[in-house]
Amino acid sequence: MRTAIYPGSFDPVTCGHLDIIKRAARLFDKLIVLVSVNPTKASCFTPEERVDFIKRVTVNIPNIEVDSYDGLLIDYFNLKKADVIVKGLRAMSDFEYEFQMALVNKDLCYKAETVFLCADVVGTFLSSSMVKQIALFDGDISSYVPLEIERDIMKGVKRLKKSEKD
Ligand code: PNS
Repeated sequence: MRTAIYPGSFDPVTCGHLDIIKRAARLFDKLIVLVSVNPTKASCFTPEERVDFIKRVTVNIPNIEVDSYDGLLIDYFNLKKADVIVKGLRAMSDFEYEFQMALVNKDLCYKAETVFLCADVVGTFLSSSMVKQIALFDGDISSYVPLEIERDIMKGVKRLKKSEKD
């Protein structure tokens, strides 16, 4: 049985992420979507909220598990006896950073192979930060995030704006 882990900040999950999730779930026996902590980014949604969003939009995909982990990805990878790390590549600008992370993870654990899936057309220019910016100014995010979580994303971004004002 081949287990893959798709880690990311998912703050929040977008249609671009969902496309990678669906395609990776077809390639592996089990896919763990992991809400991971990126220490270089401040987040808008709590890990619990992010896990909940992903669970809600992947409810119909049977071989998916959603989890969160506040530690090194490679420790989680070993804990779960996983085979592969999956990452989405949007543009060449992603490549250098992703390449570096793949090499670091492989250096920390020789059997940790990273497989890159190319983003689809919309996913190429989409990012969670763009979605949050559009939502913050009441723009239309309906093409960029799954319908089931659109309202909660709008609410969450506004909550952040309000708490920054207070
Ligand atoms: O969606 P992102 O922010 O590009 O995802 C990056 C993430 C969370 C996958 C990465 O920062 C990560 O793996 N964080 C866990 C901590 C870790 O293992 N860091 C070393 C990898 S170089």
